[in-house]
Amino acid sequence: MTEHDLTKLAYKTLQQGKSLAGLAHKGISTKLMEVFAPDSMPNTSEITQDLLIELKKSMEALEQTDWEDASEGLYPKKQLFQAPWLEWFAKYPLIWLDMPSIWKRRVKRDVRDIPKEINKEKYPDYYLQNFHHQTDGYLSEHSAEIYDIQVEILFNGTADSMRRRILSPLKNGLKRFEGRDMADLKVLDVATGTGRTLEQIRTAFPNIELFGIDLSSSYLKQASKYLNNANGQLVQLIRGNAECMPFSSGSFQALTCVFLFHELPKEARQNVINECYRLIEPGGTFILADSIQFNDSPQFAPVMDNFRKFFHEPYYLDYVKDNIDLRLKEAGFTDIKAHSHFMTRVWSAYKPC
Ligand SMILES: C[S@@+](CC[C@H](N)C(=O)[O-])C[C@H]1O[C@@H](n2cnc3c(N)ncnc32)[C@H](O)[C@@H]1O
Repeated sequence: MTEHDLTKLAYKTLQQGKSLAGLAHKGISTKLMEVFAPDSMPNTSEITQDLLIELKKSMEALEQTDWEDASEGLYPKKQLFQAPWLEWFAKYPLIWLDMPSIWKRRVKRDVRDIPKEINKEKYPDYYLQNFHHQTDGYLSEHSAEIYDIQVEILFNGTADSMRRRILSPLKNGLKRFEGRDMADLKVLDVATGTGRTLEQIRTAFPNIELFGIDLSSSYLKQASKYLNNANGQLVQLIRGNAECMPFSSGSFQALTCVFLFHELPKEARQNVINECYRLIEPGGTFILADSIQFNDSPQFAPVMDNFRKFFHEPYYLDYVKDNIDLRLKEAGFTDIKAHSHFMTRVWSAYKPC
């Protein structure tokens, strides 16, 4: 067996392990919720055996693309294994300890339970909620500490593979500035959260200048810890609203944005697209990744339906019916392309020269 085969086997085994762990966690926690908070159990759509087979195939296709992109050198293979495992194991019990307060909020239908000390004037109203019933919303260090593990569990260990799908369109976008030194290229990750996308970009393109923006200072602190612990260039993190960002027009050659749009009301979605357009230098790219939608993946409609019923995701239904291509076009973007990878759809669009 070659080193290549061994690494592939290790990657497949890791993904299978994460998938099983995610399924087991969700199975046990749902059973507990049925017992302790039966009133909060939603009326979900049936997931048939055929649909489960489709889901598995789609997940395997994602895994294969992830492996091929790494094998072709888009990013180093070590990226496939990158996670602060010890830290995650240490934090995992916090997820169970948090569960009773989530059940309590679910039963009371309380979705605006955010820390009292938060100055609400610093945030748009749509943001001040417990997205996915998360304790403190995005507004505490406790929430930021367990976010990555929660997302890994939610997507059965595929979250990072889905995030990595922005790297290929990003590479194509940056090729348009081929004459320039990589160190002169600037990329901004919008709604960067705990910084996992930024780390992926930094590993794939080690010399470019990277920036991240998010509304949550707690999530940015977590991102700062994560990014500073790894090797690589400095990443600059700024707190701000993606609808109105503190940068001058045309400052970046590319912008990325992962898993933000399903948490925005439609007006904010258009504002963010327009603002990204403003910040991109003519010829630059915008790469957007978020949930698949009803139109591109009708076969997974029951999964999308269950997601919004199970978790507090107030704008998800509107998002999955939204025409993102049209929004990008209306902002001025051209050359719009989109591909779906398991539960994530990735758009790339250019600002004309
Ligand atoms: C679902 S998380 C995604 C985070 C990260 N991109 C990832 O891949 O995990 C949504 C993020 O968007 C941020 N966010 C929501 N509304 C925002 C806004 N208007 N401006 C900036 N950040 C926002 C939240 O604070 C949170 O970190």
